[in-house]
Amino acid sequence: MAGVIVVGSQWGDEGKGKIIDFLAEKADMVVRFQGGNNAGHTVVVKDQEFRLHLIPSGILYPQTQCVIGNGVVLDPAVLIQEIANLKKRGVSIENLLVSSRAQVLMPYHQKIDELEEDRRGDNKIGTTKRGIGPAYMDKISRVGIRVADLLDRDFFAATLDLVLQDKNELLTKYYNAEPFSYQEILDKYLEYAEEIRPYVTDTSIIVYKALKEGKKVLFEGAQGTLLDIDHGTYPFVTSSHPVAGGAMVGAGIGPTYINRVIGVVKAYTTRVGGGPFPTELLDDLGQQIRERGREYGTTTGRPRRCGWLDTVILRYAVRVNGLSELAITKLDILDEMETIKICTAYRYKGQIIEELPSTLAELAHCEPIYEEWPGWMADITRIQTQEELPLSARNYLRRIEQLTETPINLIAVGPERHKTIILDYIFS
Ligand code: GDP
Ligand code: IMO
Ligand code: MG
Repeated sequence: MAGVIVVGSQWGDEGKGKIIDFLAEKADMVVRFQGGNNAGHTVVVKDQEFRLHLIPSGILYPQTQCVIGNGVVLDPAVLIQEIANLKKRGVSIENLLVSSRAQVLMPYHQKIDELEEDRRGDNKIGTTKRGIGPAYMDKISRVGIRVADLLDRDFFAATLDLVLQDKNELLTKYYNAEPFSYQEILDKYLEYAEEIRPYVTDTSIIVYKALKEGKKVLFEGAQGTLLDIDHGTYPFVTSSHPVAGGAMVGAGIGPTYINRVIGVVKAYTTRVGGGPFPTELLDDLGQQIRERGREYGTTTGRPRRCGWLDTVILRYAVRVNGLSELAITKLDILDEMETIKICTAYRYKGQIIEELPSTLAELAHCEPIYEEWPGWMADITRIQTQEELPLSARNYLRRIEQLTETPINLIAVGPERHKTIILDYIFS
């Protein structure tokens, strides 16, 4: 039994794509379990960069099975485009499977996401405007369309007819927007159905069998712990469960098959979109990190907000995900820092608190308490073992382990696949 979950420990973009790609070399299967094409996972192999939104980050290995699980909201147009782009670059898609239970993202979801963000004005969430929230709303309201429904021509035609009447009413009467044409959506989606049909199956069975046979299965989280609909900085969150628990529901397997949970941690913190961010740097230093780290969204190109590492949120991520280990990424981005700060706790109304508060109002009044560590002021991008890292870098990593009470198993020192230092083998 070798089920390993990989999740984001912060607000997304931690480098999950890079870590999954690195681990996937020795894995038999990689399963995406939530989110949709709001995700942007970057994989760099030699001089080639791949940006994946829906397809799991194991796709570059022809022997690794890649599964889009039932918990994902699937925009078929985006999937078809992503498949075409990868094929054009010589990547085999033979091993891709899509769950028949995944929800289908419809054009009205995207439109409503846009309109709702505009309506909120200053209180907007800063979504990726990919329709993810409205698609999950429909799933929970039981008016969603699943991949299996899309493949059943008559059922799809009838369901779309019913659902679209309500959506058009909402669009025209509430948002004052144009209605969608039933026939246009029907024709387009029936074409999509035929393109994705070869990949569709009941993936829960495939994942279950793999785990039972002792195969190595990676579960690839999108977004991050602090964007979780229950555990994140609500309402500035996404509409799914990026935490480890989401992998069970979103892949259709039970927790007894999981033996490790890896939290991907960027060596500092970033966030895209609105919402609280206690260690945010609004000065030149924040800008310096953004430029050095090329912190611009993979999906939307928006500049990412940048700040120091926050171990209050990391301890929280350890708790709510049950992290067994951490994979640290982008350590090289701190190479030129004379001093590096780590947030160890918050000061709230004169008191020191070490746990993440549950309300926005409390979080808004939390001031980070920092420790200062000397930087290493050296290029670490060619280093291949932990021992070769400068002492200050090793001290920084050791302090993260102490503050989170969690061991580090991987250290990334560059975007490329091979720029990864292994401390503990996940799959032997
Ligand atoms: P994800 O959404 O968690 O997969 O992360 P993204 O791909 O959105 O953003 C992470 C960015 O950092 C990508 O451009 C990666 O290529 C890059 N990256 C990942 N690990 C490292 C690293 O260790 N060093 C550097 N310099 N870049 C990295
Ligand atoms: P990956 O997988 C970073 C953020 C959006 C917004 C909030 C809600 O690449 O780490 P949504 O479109 O999901 O309704 O937006 O969540 N967000 C992400 N931020 N990385 C992501 O994915 C994100 N996916 C959504 O910016 O604040
Ligand atoms: Mg990303």
